[in-house]
Amino acid sequence: MTSTPIGTRPDGDKGAFVRDMFARIAPRYDTANRVLTAGMDERWRRRAIALLAPPRGGRVLDLCCGTGDLVFHLLRVDPTLAVTGIDFCAPMLERAKARAGAQLRGAPTFVEGDVMALPFDDATFDGATMGFSLRNVVDVECVLREVERVLKPGGRFVNLDVSKAPNKIWKRMFDLYFYGIVPLVGGMVGGSRQAYAYLPSSLTHHPNAPDLRERFARAGFVESGYLPLLGGAIAVHYGTKGTS
Ligand SMILES: C[S@@+](CC[C@H](N)C(=O)[O-])C[C@H]1O[C@@H](n2cnc3c(N)ncnc32)[C@H](O)[C@@H]1O
Repeated sequence: MTSTPIGTRPDGDKGAFVRDMFARIAPRYDTANRVLTAGMDERWRRRAIALLAPPRGGRVLDLCCGTGDLVFHLLRVDPTLAVTGIDFCAPMLERAKARAGAQLRGAPTFVEGDVMALPFDDATFDGATMGFSLRNVVDVECVLREVERVLKPGGRFVNLDVSKAPNKIWKRMFDLYFYGIVPLVGGMVGGSRQAYAYLPSSLTHHPNAPDLRERFARAGFVESGYLPLLGGAIAVHYGTKGTS
């Protein structure tokens, strides 16, 4: 563990700071998620997977898999998939592995690693997912290039995350919840108010939905777009690796 104080963004090593923070909240991360979204995150995950539409028996990579929510959703939808989850936070991965033991469908693989330097060969996966994490990485472009690299031509990437609602009144209301209630309730349920104060602030400097779509295109994804959910406060971005 580093001694970086939670709640401030260190200049030097954001990656270590984020890893340390998730290590602290790992034990109660799943419960906090369900409470903070009133269970809606499960529905959003299903929408994201519907957009991925991986081929039967295909290889799918879930980036920043955390405790494995998207991994297990993928396997519930299609147990023939070979799903790999990657995350750099060992305590989150331990929970994912413990959950995998209790699942009836599929046998996912979990890898400890950094999504900014994926430990996989080019053109390995038929599809890739990422949930509530792109805001937390040091370099969004670097991750997008890495995902594009490890996808096979025609493979799709789907990214589910909090976003910035285009309607100003709705955005203001959502911000009140996200920046005010989330740290309070997250602190009580998740065990660290400081960590749940950092998580909303990670949205502040994150690109808005149209800008993120542009970045998908710049990273080489074709047919990129996004599906706004909850009035645009949540967005599922998608893009396909070109075949030429
Ligand atoms: C908010 S959690 C999301 C977990 C999961 N995807 C979900 O939908 O619940 C963010 C996860 O991203 C991981 N993470 C952040 N930056 C990372 C990086 N550069 N490489 C690997 N994992 C990273 C954290 O360790 C944490 O588990």
